[in-house]
Amino acid sequence: MAPGRVNLIGEHTDYNEGFVFPAAIDRQVVIAARRSQRRGSAINSLERKGCGQFDAATAAPGQALDRRWWDYVAGMAWALRDETNKEMPDVEAIIHSTVPIGSGVSSSAALEMACAVMWNELAGLALEPRTLAKLGQRCENRFIGVNSGIMDQMASAMGRAGHALFIDTRSLEVEYAPVPDDLAVVLCDTKKPRALSSSAYNERRKQCEAGARALGVTSLREATLASVKAASLDPITFRRCRHVVTENQRCIEFKAALNRGDRAEVGRLMRASHESLRDDYEVSCAELDAMAEAAWSAPGCVGARMTGAGFGGACVALVAKNALGEFTSELLSAYDRETNLGGEALTCDVANGAHRAC
Ligand code: GLA
Repeated sequence: MAPGRVNLIGEHTDYNEGFVFPAAIDRQVVIAARRSQRRGSAINSLERKGCGQFDAATAAPGQALDRRWWDYVAGMAWALRDETNKEMPDVEAIIHSTVPIGSGVSSSAALEMACAVMWNELAGLALEPRTLAKLGQRCENRFIGVNSGIMDQMASAMGRAGHALFIDTRSLEVEYAPVPDDLAVVLCDTKKPRALSSSAYNERRKQCEAGARALGVTSLREATLASVKAASLDPITFRRCRHVVTENQRCIEFKAALNRGDRAEVGRLMRASHESLRDDYEVSCAELDAMAEAAWSAPGCVGARMTGAGFGGACVALVAKNALGEFTSELLSAYDRETNLGGEALTCDVANGAHRAC
């Protein structure tokens, strides 16, 4: 099994070698699998249509052109083979997922990490969770064709119950930070599915790379607000770079504020993150803005912001547990008044990362 994730802060920083602060949640992908007696793998899903058929020994980039849900499964067979030079056994498997799709909580990384655990076990590879996360990113980048960073796979592979993960995406060092007991993590789903996300995502990544080149650094991790201001960047590149350097700073400050129990500062930083993603990075949308506004003024809300890549999906809110009922009803009625969309609030437990479940 492998979980989805929410990201508390540190958005669009991972492919700039920056900091992120996600947590694995109690919505997960579970796979029951056995070695196949015949050549070829057969994969079914309780939620998705069609039976995925591919050859674990020959699956390779370029085969995902039809964009089917089992591409992630075939892609992981390729990534593990590519890394280890060992053959992956064909499998018969059935998948069940409770990770919402299109809500920005990484249903695809959860599927990748569950497959990684499956082949790690069946092929006796004994690869570390961190390595499995890197192979998930390789699958995403080279097999699926989305140039994502490594946050989602790291959170799904290395999550710990009750803890968020402060990850330095350059060194892949992880520091576990307890989520205070009296706070609930609430996923505030706009019910607006993410749209056009992979092309806009890849475009943002290119803009960051162009910004780093113009600043003469290998990644925006090395840039500062002062160096971004001093360079003569075009207005779009300037705003993209400003988001990344200020978001890295917010992520560090958030860790400290959470640690010393400074709730006002936690809230301020989450709000500043949302505003930066909205105004400088331009990955929010009317529905995410309406949901964030609704959360900020609902009772018991410590902080809220959009989570994940953006362009639809969900906000994450940290909410006082004793105000959860009031928070949820005020949040959803304010959101519905604004959008007529009927959002949904899911309270999530912060869960363990990918592992063999039985
Ligand atoms: C997606 C990607 C991550 C990360 C976020 C934005 O979830 O998969 O690598 O870049 O978007 O923070």
